[in-house]
Amino acid sequence: MKQKLIFPSSHSALVSLNRWLKQPAQSSRRIFILVDEQTGQHCLPSFVASVPALVGAEFFEVPSGEEAKDIAIASQLWQSLLESGADRSSLLINLGGGCVSDLGGFVASTFMRGIGYVNVPTSLIAMADAAIGGKTALNLNGVKNMAGTFCLPQGIYFHPEFLGSLPDREWESGLFEVAKTLLLSDGDMLSDLESAVCVGTPLRDLPMDRWIRQCAEFKAAVVAADPNERSVRRILNLGHTFGHAVESFSLARNGNLSHGFAVGIGLWCALYLSVKKLGLNPSLLDKYGSLLHSLVEVPHFSLRDTEELLSFMRQDKKNRDGSILCVLLQDIGLPVIDVCVSEPEIRDAFLQVGK
Ligand SMILES: NC(=O)c1ccc[n+]([C@@H]2O[C@H](COP(=O)([O-])OP(=O)(O)OC[C@H]3O[C@@H](n4cnc5c(N)ncnc54)[C@H](O)[C@@H]3O)[C@@H](O)[C@H]2O)c1
Ligand SMILES: [Zn+2]
Repeated sequence: MKQKLIFPSSHSALVSLNRWLKQPAQSSRRIFILVDEQTGQHCLPSFVASVPALVGAEFFEVPSGEEAKDIAIASQLWQSLLESGADRSSLLINLGGGCVSDLGGFVASTFMRGIGYVNVPTSLIAMADAAIGGKTALNLNGVKNMAGTFCLPQGIYFHPEFLGSLPDREWESGLFEVAKTLLLSDGDMLSDLESAVCVGTPLRDLPMDRWIRQCAEFKAAVVAADPNERSVRRILNLGHTFGHAVESFSLARNGNLSHGFAVGIGLWCALYLSVKKLGLNPSLLDKYGSLLHSLVEVPHFSLRDTEELLSFMRQDKKNRDGSILCVLLQDIGLPVIDVCVSEPEIRDAFLQVGK
């Protein structure tokens, strides 16, 4: 099924959203808006002001970040929808970053066996990746995305002006999800990104609107080919088997390594093993390493840390028959899925990344 991606054209995507909501088929629906503490403050007022059809919509606010992707919060939202008289024709609009769209998508796809939802991404990660593709998720016992559904949103509306209030660290973190897609699709743009960041171009001067659109369209095309991740969609997990382990490891210590930075470290590990196992050109690893080290203080993992990281990797949903499977890269744009990586290889990658 084709996803509806709405970018700014002669008018803003919010004008398109308003027009859609005013269509007879939508206009009688009850509308609910999900925000977190930050997007409730920074994005909701201008959003509601720009979309007059939202007059009368109710909004729900959840805590910012990963702690919102929790079954207790999902359950509170089901309860709030019920108490507010939501029915199966109701619409949930997720206004936020990837945590809001993962949580809101999950709640919408399960409430009364599924109500419609729309994503209005406000972070770089959400615009370039998370808001697209209909994977919804909650974390379970500190392990990332262990519960969730596949359920496509009815539309994804891109309003890059929301990035104006995004903190610099969130921009930087988002660059790694962009880098992931560029590694899968476009070497020239990856070089542009690496040189811009390494010469210190201010983040807000990067051609982000173009990159967001390229990443979003690439992801939408991959998802259209394989909505339920049986085959080609797995390429989008590049760096994530390692990255989710790093993220869970950090969460377990109340660390503040966000998803994008963890994926950044995971991408380095995947490229390192790609050089060793698939003959990837080492100059790409060097170039990517410069990007990584210019944006993140990469932790030094001890041998004991690698045991804990491995225990998270053993729980990865993509594993089969006890083997840890990863996406690696033969070259830019040439990913290979389901590569079996041994525990000594994984340990080696984690021990090398901080050097
Ligand atoms: N479902 C998918 O396909 C998919 C893909 C990639 C990532 N993800 C998930 O997305 C999450 C990471 O996304 P994220 O970085 O957007 O997380 P996030 O939603 O936690 O946003 C990061 C921070 O930025 C704040 N924020 C967002 N937009 C803002 C704005 N415009 N102004 C000010 N503050 C703003 C948020 O409140 C939060 O504090 C992870 O949980 C990851 O697993 C999902
Ligand atoms: Zn990701």
